[in-house]
Amino acid sequence: MIALIRALVVVLALMPPALAEPPVMPPAAPLVHAAHGMVASEEAVATRVGVDMLRQGGNAVDAAVAVAFALAVTWPEAGNLGGGGFMLVHQAETGDTVAIDYRERAPGAADRDMFLDDDGIPVDARSRSYGLAVGVPGTVAGLALALERYGTISLAETLAPAIRLASDGIAVTPALAQSLAGSRARLARWPASARIFLHPDGEPYVAGETLVQADLAHTLRLIADQGPQAFYTGPVAESIAAAVAGAGGVMTDSDLADYRAQVREPIIGHYRGVTIRSMPPPSSGGVHLVQMLNILEGYPIAALGHNTAPTIHRMAEAMTRAYADRSRYLGDSDFVDVPVARLTDKAYAAELRASIDPKRATPADRVAPEAVPPPAESPDTTHFSVVDRAGNAVSNTTTLNFNYGIGLVAAGTGVLLNNEMDDFAARPGAANAFGLIGGVPNEVAPGKRPLSSMTPTIVFRDNRPFLVTGSPGGSRIITTVLQIILNVIDHDMTVAEATDAVRVHHQWQPDRLYVEPGLDATTIRQLEAMGHVVDIGGFMGSTQSILITDDGGLTGASDVRRPGGLTAGY
Ligand code: DON
Repeated sequence: MIALIRALVVVLALMPPALAEPPVMPPAAPLVHAAHGMVASEEAVATRVGVDMLRQGGNAVDAAVAVAFALAVTWPEAGNLGGGGFMLVHQAETGDTVAIDYRERAPGAADRDMFLDDDGIPVDARSRSYGLAVGVPGTVAGLALALERYGTISLAETLAPAIRLASDGIAVTPALAQSLAGSRARLARWPASARIFLHPDGEPYVAGETLVQADLAHTLRLIADQGPQAFYTGPVAESIAAAVAGAGGVMTDSDLADYRAQVREPIIGHYRGVTIRSMPPPSSGGVHLVQMLNILEGYPIAALGHNTAPTIHRMAEAMTRAYADRSRYLGDSDFVDVPVARLTDKAYAAELRASIDPKRATPADRVAPEAVPPPAESPDTTHFSVVDRAGNAVSNTTTLNFNYGIGLVAAGTGVLLNNEMDDFAARPGAANAFGLIGGVPNEVAPGKRPLSSMTPTIVFRDNRPFLVTGSPGGSRIITTVLQIILNVIDHDMTVAEATDAVRVHHQWQPDRLYVEPGLDATTIRQLEAMGHVVDIGGFMGSTQSILITDDGGLTGASDVRRPGGLTAGY
């Protein structure tokens, strides 16, 4: 019954706003309590894999790596081996937090103009649908690195549940059935993918059927036996390179052999007495999360009220300034100088705040003079959070970019390939699939990582993790995470209330204030009267959050905007 309601909610979310009236909010996310350890993820079987790992004495990193591999089997639209992501790891014992960057890289033969036609116009299909779209995958290297440095068990032990799920098969959930049906055309384009995810007549698997992924099980076993090099060299790497070449790409097996995950310093911010640690470049997430919080800290947000017009106006103005800066300054900091210190500086935030008229929306062309078309698609990513009984915490966001990436499985491997190259700016001023404009710092270059919005975040109180959160949602990830933090810190909500609350989003261009269904009509009229162009659209994000209470207990919530998530603990 709940599945039915959720399915209905998602169907409504996908409909144009006129048909979706009257607005229907999903059922409320349950607030889950636990004493020792907790996992929040978008897929219930993967969550249980993580909780079992914690219960057996594994630490948060052991559990996180097992969850990530399980998601590659049970939630293939976004869980992956052929994509990339970011993992924030906090170690209770040392008090250190590190940011593991396993973002995809551009192949060695990539070049700045690879997505342009002869007239210099971006060709979307090249960066989104064929071999040139595929970045060198980072997931296997990143998970292996996380486990080696911060875990306590072997790679084979973390892989065992995923291998079992892939070889025995999984019961297709309503959420997976819906996901496969939604991406059927993308999967049907490639025979190697259709053979796995669709029946011989082209119909996708439906709920209750068993989906076996024998090739993926084989690849996972090779990694368990030989380590990550079984993915980056030898037959798996050769098959990936051949699949990419067959789809018109330029990735070679030496690009795969050369891939390295990086350990980076997190972005640090301070907001009303808590400390934020989040993802640095090549994600824009941490920088702009902290920048927006710095701007908003100068306003009495709690007194202005949750989701009132004065609060949303200030949030939207902070958002538009942050996203304008994103387009100008952000890129892979291994290749370009990103002015992180200035962008996250309280004094700079004060300058930006001074440019905000409390009564009028600033038109986007006055924030910066460029114009771009609206975003086209709503592709996918997945986030999970883990806390163990020692107080270690992991916040991990991973993606193939679009659902199932380009939809192509490298033959014999079961590995779906990403289309992360679309997150580069095809040329300065061009928008990606999320309508995000990139600048020169985010131009394509060999070996470079495309700019991301993924924002795995841990909030600290008195130097101890207090809130672990993150979300999918493309360009909306950063503003979604912002709102979880504001809802908990300023509006004193439980993590479930913070998850359920109606979300808003502004990304500078297009000059629109997106709001979810459910915001009251008077507030919308007040925002319009201030000059905002309000767009009531679909639901935003799918947060997976854990909050550590003062007495050390755990509460958590999986977003109900997308079906199938589960927060559980022990
Ligand atoms: O890294 C990024 O920002 C994007 N590739 C993420 C894509 C995404 O979140 C789609 N999710 N719904």
